[in-house]
Amino acid sequence: MDAPVVIITVCMGSSCFSRGNNVNTETIERFLREHAVSGKVELRGCLCGGRCREGPIVEIDGEVFRGVTPGVLPDILSHKLLPRLL
Ligand code: FES
Repeated sequence: MDAPVVIITVCMGSSCFSRGNNVNTETIERFLREHAVSGKVELRGCLCGGRCREGPIVEIDGEVFRGVTPGVLPDILSHKLLPRLL
């Protein structure tokens, strides 16, 4: 298997977690499976980075996405993750 080429970091601090990242993690894992790219992406959790008011926070290769509710996450993954894997 090739080494992961993209790193997704999900804030697991209590604010981000309770406002969406608890669900977002599962959504990301499902999205990766459905698009057969699990082996190309490393999914990490991180502690609170002090941006709670802007959360839930998800980063894709260091690009910060704010207010990542489960409703907007699939769009972000489609437009910001998949192109990085081509
Ligand atoms: S809990 Fe995510 S930035 Fe604070």
